[in-house]
Amino acid sequence: MPLRVIVGVAGGIAAYKAVSVVREFVRRGHHVTVIPTGSALKFVGLPTWEAISRNPVPTDLFEGVAEVRHVALGQQANLIVVCPATAHTLASIAGGFAGDLLGTTLLAATAPLVLAPAMHTEMWENPAVQANVETLRQRGVLFVGPDSGPLTGDDSGVGRMSEPETIVNFALSSLTPQSLEGKRVLISAGGTREPLDPVRYLGNRSSGAMGVALAEAARLRGAHVTLVHSHVEVPLPHGVDTVAVSTAQDMLAAMAAAQPTHDIILMAAAVADWRARTLSPQKLRKADQPEYWTPELERTPDILAQLGETKTTGQLLVGFAAETDGDASQRESNARMKLKAKKSDALVLNLVGDQVGFGEVETAVTLITASPQSLTFEGTKSSVAGRLLDALPEL
Ligand code: C5P
Repeated sequence: MPLRVIVGVAGGIAAYKAVSVVREFVRRGHHVTVIPTGSALKFVGLPTWEAISRNPVPTDLFEGVAEVRHVALGQQANLIVVCPATAHTLASIAGGFAGDLLGTTLLAATAPLVLAPAMHTEMWENPAVQANVETLRQRGVLFVGPDSGPLTGDDSGVGRMSEPETIVNFALSSLTPQSLEGKRVLISAGGTREPLDPVRYLGNRSSGAMGVALAEAARLRGAHVTLVHSHVEVPLPHGVDTVAVSTAQDMLAAMAAAQPTHDIILMAAAVADWRARTLSPQKLRKADQPEYWTPELERTPDILAQLGETKTTGQLLVGFAAETDGDASQRESNARMKLKAKKSDALVLNLVGDQVGFGEVETAVTLITASPQSLTFEGTKSSVAGRLLDALPEL
């Protein structure tokens, strides 16, 4: 579900990193309103906030009075993040000051409030700042960071704002039931590449976005995640263990090695079904080949089927099946056969083609289990991934 997120930005140099926080919330499909303080606008200007959030950015307490904006934004918010939270802003929030739009918004809000402090070490350690932090913690305000590392100028130490992705994950976890806490989830993502010679390969158009979205969603739900990825075109998530592989054979080795220590296995990768029977050690020269020729191919190992054979009791194995044709009932009956053949507990069926399914786009998937009922989820890959994981405990 898209959330209404307010990102308050205070006047510190880390404001430039808050741009990435906003971008990451938007990338995950949330509606973001940025409320910069007057000093924040000295670091990063209004057009940047509007362009990145794709929403108008209110700055003045006396604008939008007819809509009672000074409280409406706070009342409607599902989540509020202030980054960077400067020493001055921490003091204002702790003191309940309402002299600007961020102040009134925070006082009117009941949504979880996450603060990402950023300041020099001496300021962070100052008893006045620590007392404000303590007051806010006691009121249930959540803190992410500060980290230790390079600060502005030559200084280094505690006070560096947490990385944008860490802030977003932390904030979203505060709203997400920790339904997978203590669980270990193994996910494969991306498309394998099967070499024909040192420069050419057989591959597919998988971007790995679905597997990455599943990894993010599992981590947000408190799981320990291992992501086995092959040629993924989207950024890999933070806070998960990653294993890079290239071919189906590599992926089989990585998945089989990790299988015994994981509770849930999601085989979202698009594994090539064939590979060259013999790999040419040199580049195949065009001049040496006839006009028409057929490379001799052989089947790759079926990783999901092999994991199905070695699955232990209580372990949950989920396969994916991308289909490009057939009617819905035909696709579902194919998927049911595949579910049995590969000894999986569930199969996620999705339609792919030139215009649908690949990359960060709207998608629709159907979850098929041994039960005759199937469940269909539609939305962005992030929201579909979350809903798939929320359906797992039923299994
Ligand atoms: O048989 P099909 O390729 O349609 O099955 C798709 C499912 O099987 C996916 O979960 C995919 O990751 C997995 N698969 C596999 N090894 C293969 C081919 C597919 O694990 N060689």
